[in-house]
Order: sequence, then C-alpha cells, then structure tokens
Amino acid sequence: MNVFTFLAPFYNIIFSSVQKRQGKELLNKLSPLKGKKVLDLGGGTGKFAAQMFSAGADVWLLDASPQMLKRASRILPSDRLILGDAKNLPFSNNTFDIITLVDVFHHIRNQEDTLSECYRILRPGGSLCLLEFSPECLTIRVLAGVERFFGEPSLFLSPEDLTGLLKKAGFIQIEIQYILVDEYVTQAKKPMLQSP
Ligand SMILES: C[S@@+](CC[C@H](N)C(=O)[O-])C[C@H]1O[C@@H](n2cnc3c(N)ncnc32)[C@H](O)[C@@H]1O
Repeated sequence: MNVFTFLAPFYNIIFSSVQKRQGKELLNKLSPLKGKKVLDLGGGTGKFAAQMFSAGADVWLLDASPQMLKRASRILPSDRLILGDAKNLPFSNNTFDIITLVDVFHHIRNQEDTLSECYRILRPGGSLCLLEFSPECLTIRVLAGVERFFGEPSLFLSPEDLTGLLKKAGFIQIEIQYILVDEYVTQAKKPMLQSP
C-alpha cells in the first residue's frame, strides 16, 4: 500500500508551511498564469493547483493516490482531478502550456517515461517546472532512507543528473535555481520547432 494512503488525512497539516513557502516561490516563477493551461502532475491534495487556479490558470491535477485526490476535491472542481500514473498520461499531444511537479519526481519509479510523456503533452514552447531536493545534502539522504523504509523509490537526482534526463527527453533551455540549500527548482522548455 502506498504511503500517501496513510498520509493523506494529515498531509496539509504536516506540510502547511512548506506548501505556502513553495507555492509563493513557484507562483513568482510561473507568473503570469492567466489563461494558461496547466497540469499539476502529482498534485496531491491540490494546494498548489488551487493557488494557480486563483491566479487565473486553467488547471488540471493528476495524481496516483485516490486518498490525496479526495482531499483535492474539497478545493478544486472534481472534473479537473484525474487518477492516473505519470508514466502514462491520459492527454493528447501538445495539450498544456505548463506542467508542474512539486516534490513529486523522486517518488516516480519510471522517471524517463514520465519526462517523455510530459514532453509529448506539452505544447511547443511549453514549460516544465520541477521542484526537487538535492541528494548531495545529508538531510535529503536521511529523508531518502526514511522514505524507502515506507516503500517509496526516493530517486533523488542531483541537478546535473536531472538535466541529463531532461536533455535526453528533448527539453532545452534548462535552468536550475536553488531556493534552499537542499531544494532546487528546474525549469525547461519544449522547443518551438521540433525535429522530424
Ligand atoms: C510529496 S507529495 C507532493 C504533493 C503535491 N505536489 C504537493 O507539493 O503538496 C507526492 C505526490 O506524488 C504522487 N505520486 C507519486 N507517484 C506518482 C505517479 N507515478 N504518478 C502520479 N502521481 C504520483 C503521490 O500520490 C503524492 O500525492
């Protein structure tokens, strides 16, 4: 059974201040969001998706945990919430302007497939934004050990390794910014002109 099955009822209480801090940081980076079609992949209880919704984005949230989605349904329209797996996204090619993965990528076992899927469903010129944690920091290595104990893959990547995967999937203009000593945001683009 998935760790988020148990965490869902307490998630917003435990992570309230982290969600607020990260949400503020990411909204700054992604604005203006008005009119943009956005997928919050692994959006969990929907806190960040709701912030993007309030900022005028046309937001969708996909998550693998029914329990997390149930929480999200309290603050987002239920027709925007999709139960699914990041490695096989139920959207047509070239659908979204922006895809966000906040504290999600290291939970995903099929990371390469997930990036290929994100690339496929982003519009040419669209942006991918990932918030992740650096395994170079001791705190994150300890966190990885704890998460693995609970059955999570905890595949924390360094910015260099994440950049390598993004390039392999076809992304360009990859920019990394540390927002805390162990926490970084990566933004990357799908090219406007695609090679045949
Ligand atoms: C740490 S939570 C982060 C939730 C939210 N992004 C936030 O910042 O509050 C990680 C989320 O990723 C989801 N997740 C993990 N693996 C997934 C996958 N393969 N496909 C879709 N969602 C996944 C989990 O169900 C969980 O809701």
